[in-house]
Amino acid sequence: MGGYVSTLTVRRFILITNLITKTLTIFTKFMLLRFEKKEDIKGIHSVHVESFETDQEAKLVDDLRLGDLDLISLVAEENQKIIGHLLFSPVFLDSNIKIKMMGLAPIAILPAFQNRVIGSLLVRKGLDVCVQKKIQSIVVLGDPNFYSRFGFESSVNYSIRSDFNVNPEVFQIKELEKGIFLGFDGIVKYHDRFNQL
Ligand SMILES: CC(C)(COP(=O)(O)OP(=O)(O)OC[C@H]1O[C@@H](n2cnc3c(N)ncnc32)[C@H](O)[C@@H]1OP(=O)(O)O)[C@@H](O)C(=O)NCCC(=O)NCCS
Repeated sequence: MGGYVSTLTVRRFILITNLITKTLTIFTKFMLLRFEKKEDIKGIHSVHVESFETDQEAKLVDDLRLGDLDLISLVAEENQKIIGHLLFSPVFLDSNIKIKMMGLAPIAILPAFQNRVIGSLLVRKGLDVCVQKKIQSIVVLGDPNFYSRFGFESSVNYSIRSDFNVNPEVFQIKELEKGIFLGFDGIVKYHDRFNQL
């Protein structure tokens, strides 16, 4: 009896493992995360227009791209279609402008593709790129339920505030270099273009 149960368990395990492998293969076969290319610009614009209530974020991305900024712009592509976009742009702490910081904004996934982990994968990929580029901290304004899963913490835990009039809980910080803000307080400044939102 014990042998029969364990054979069944092994079969079930193999079945489930095969199912997971197949699902992952299908998923990764068609979805690609990569840096933005020139030919993606229209697709990126559409992603923001369709995902947000207004075209403000789409226009913000277009305008920031025109500036001479060190942006990190990543897309999610499926079957040659841009289905998601994530932008990081430089921000700075007014009391110590030497800390290398980026603001994560905006991020959007086309509505038909939301809740398929693509947004999470884009954020994780973006954080890896920031680490490679020796960025020391990332800030974001957004829902803590979503961003806490990537290690973002409320700015309330730091003596650092946002320049925007928002609930401090939604202004979140992730140190990529641990302790980088020790001994510092101040206000994080975004590019002026963000003030037009
Ligand atoms: C927020 C967004 C980028 C998430 O991408 P996604 O691929 O749908 O997210 P994932 O599948 O990786 O994760 C899904 C989780 O995000 C949550 N989520 C979905 N939309 C959200 C939103 N607007 N704000 C916060 N969390 C959101 C879901 O509830 C889900 O939570 P759960 O895992 O606890 O069930 C996407 O929903 C989107 O483009 N929304 C519209 C634009 C937007 O609001 N951008 C964020 C501004 S900060």
